[in-house]
Amino acid sequence: MRMPKIRKAKRWMLIFSAMLLSSILLAACGGNSPSILDTHGPVAGKEAGLFWFILAVATFVFVVVEGVLITSIVRFRERPNAPAPRQLHGNNTIEIIWTIAPSLFLFAVLIGTIYTMFNLTSISGQGRTEEITVVGHQWWWEFDYKNEGIVTADELVVPQGALIHTVLESNNVIHSFWVPQITGKTDVVPGHMNDKLFKADDIGVYRGLCTEYCGLQHAHMSFDLIVKSPNDYLTWVSQQQQAAQKPTSGAALAGYKLFTGSGGCQGCHGIVGVNLKSFSDPVANGLIGPNLTHFGSRRLIAGAVLSWDPASCQVTTDAKGNATITNQANCGLYQWLHDPQGVKPGNDMNIRSLSDTEIAQLVAYLESLT
Ligand code: CUA
Repeated sequence: MRMPKIRKAKRWMLIFSAMLLSSILLAACGGNSPSILDTHGPVAGKEAGLFWFILAVATFVFVVVEGVLITSIVRFRERPNAPAPRQLHGNNTIEIIWTIAPSLFLFAVLIGTIYTMFNLTSISGQGRTEEITVVGHQWWWEFDYKNEGIVTADELVVPQGALIHTVLESNNVIHSFWVPQITGKTDVVPGHMNDKLFKADDIGVYRGLCTEYCGLQHAHMSFDLIVKSPNDYLTWVSQQQQAAQKPTSGAALAGYKLFTGSGGCQGCHGIVGVNLKSFSDPVANGLIGPNLTHFGSRRLIAGAVLSWDPASCQVTTDAKGNATITNQANCGLYQWLHDPQGVKPGNDMNIRSLSDTEIAQLVAYLESLT
């Protein structure tokens, strides 16, 4: 009677183990999970090189140790009528060997690690070095371009091939800045400035993450590192340096009025040309939300918890002048303005509830901020 029960339990154990193993093996197979081995810059390249070096040392040790172990198990296995094996105690030679050998391997790993650490900053780039201050907020990233005088959020745009020197700051808790395909992790510590030098070799979009637990929405504190060609980067900079244009009519104008009026948005968000005279306006220091001057040119919202695209947030206005978003379900910006606490509980966006018409007007205004 008991056998089938045990067999059943065994089968479930097997199924459970297979599921566990496959979830571990497939954990990094998502389309948007960057790999530290798929490198697109010299810093990540050197770090990946160190990984392969340590893996090679570890593999060598594994093969030798397991080889000796398996050989011993097979060769010295118990046979019928075999005599008791020779007893060995306190063999000095063997003990010295197995003390020194692991030390040598660990020393090799130590040398490789120290060499890579000091070698990470010996990289060269084209043109001038970009100076960017990265500020970790709870829970989104701000990027201040010192030379260009612009401030943005959620998207760190850099020119291909240039050295990027980032200063990492936090005015709240400890975060950690990481772009797996471009550069390793560096802590962002309040009251202590860390800095970081890197370079991106290839044009593209690379996911960046916060990799130090920093509160409720730590997992939703991402950004995109967008690498543009040097010419496209200059175009982007000159566009970002412009003040925002005030809309002249329609839903966008109504959205502008909401932003500056009953919506209460400008109490937290700055827009150059609206409530800020420039990106370095001291008024900005009192604002807790991202600078939205060119929000319409960005595609990520609130630490990349949502993305949005004007094509999926089309605003239509009926004969009475009521604005609506045609496809609310596909519009990330609608979801965010409709229920920011539902999307990202605990974030600082505590707004009054907005009607669908008001949201459509704000979306039309924000879209116009290209
Ligand atoms: Cu910021 Cu985790």
